[in-house]
Amino acid sequence: MIKKVVLMACTWISVQVSFGQKNVPPAEIRQKMGWFADAKLGIFIHAGIYAVNGIDESWSFHNKKISYADYMKQLKGFTLKNYNPAFWADLIQESGARYSVITTKHHDGVAMYDTHLNDRSIVKKTPAGRDMIQPFFDELRKRNIKCGAYYSLIDWSDDNYPGFLKDSNRYVVANDYDRWNRFRSFFQGQIKEINKKFKPDLWWFDGDWEHSAEEWEAQKVRTIILSGNPNAIINGRLQGWGDYETPEQNFPVTRPNYNWWELCMTSNDNWGFHHDNNWKTPYEIITIFVDAVANGGNLLLDMGPKADGTIPEEQIHILKELGAWNKRNGEAIFNTVGGLPQGHFYGPSTLSKDSSTLFLFLHGKQNGPVMIKGLKNKIEQVTVVGKGTRLQPKIVGKISWSPIPGLVYINVPEAACDKYVTVLKVKLDKPVSLYKGQGGLQ
Ligand code: GLC
Repeated sequence: MIKKVVLMACTWISVQVSFGQKNVPPAEIRQKMGWFADAKLGIFIHAGIYAVNGIDESWSFHNKKISYADYMKQLKGFTLKNYNPAFWADLIQESGARYSVITTKHHDGVAMYDTHLNDRSIVKKTPAGRDMIQPFFDELRKRNIKCGAYYSLIDWSDDNYPGFLKDSNRYVVANDYDRWNRFRSFFQGQIKEINKKFKPDLWWFDGDWEHSAEEWEAQKVRTIILSGNPNAIINGRLQGWGDYETPEQNFPVTRPNYNWWELCMTSNDNWGFHHDNNWKTPYEIITIFVDAVANGGNLLLDMGPKADGTIPEEQIHILKELGAWNKRNGEAIFNTVGGLPQGHFYGPSTLSKDSSTLFLFLHGKQNGPVMIKGLKNKIEQVTVVGKGTRLQPKIVGKISWSPIPGLVYINVPEAACDKYVTVLKVKLDKPVSLYKGQGGLQ
């Protein structure tokens, strides 16, 4: 955990050189990143035996909140007896998400599919007795939703892996390269297996902070994936050999300079199913989602199914409300790019790809009109997305002899407002053009 915190802190300081993709030239991957940039919303699924007791995924034994033996007893309670991948995929589709990422193996080393490299899987060790990945991917693909495989590089259960509990390691790599090599061929074997079996559109690595790029052979791992699956996208937790950044839980205040980024976030305060009622409200989720998109990123929103394969009611509610909002307002989200730089509008915004349509997002109940500063364009039309209500902008303070644009004020009647976030569509005469000066005669 501590190592991870240090890594995340460094990521924030160094927004110029992003670690996650530092070895991968953006021009080389731009084309394959196309669907990801347009997707905006993904659903993350932390499925694992930790749902049996409702405790922290893998970290609970690592941090010694429970003994390893007791943690592993959860294997006996993992039934999946009500697992309905078609229902999951329907719900994900309803939320508006364009991709989903599921745990194929977390740090506890329990594979959620039939790995041939050891016996530690839900297929061989739990009453579920079956692979949960393939049927889920099949259902996603039927609905044209991209499939992502979360894979933990860390494997605290494997005898050849150095790390185990927070204060006790099995060995140190430098003292036993043969043992480390055995682990390396094991985990790379699992990656090959997953790549071949499930052909993920996206690989979501986790835990790279425990070893260096050289130790993981990160470049080789990238090559293994891409040689079998050339268009696969790889997240930024591969010690510099991934394609995009993954800030976790913490939201950037200024727009990240990364080419592609995704905020991964829990729906309550936990990744897996937990006895945790601190659910984020649909309003909170939607405003966070909008903010990520307005800053050029995606949101990967997590859910934690129960051990029988059912999804908590509160979670279903969040996804349905988010989906209903996306249905009304998706025009302003999907296939757009990040919006105006700070200072022109006090809220999030997006732009159409040709930047001649501006979308303004209004949080909660507006008190008074919306204002845009420094917009040089002529406005052709303003409407409320999802309702079509036409609004009349008023240009205030435009001085005839000055090239500096006036302020745009738009009144939004309460009846035209969305129950969560209202979106205004501002059609401009041509691609957006902004005045960024300091007033006066400039
Ligand atoms: C962290 C945690 C892990 C969780 C992941 C999701 O890296 O170690 O438990 O799965 O975040 O982003």
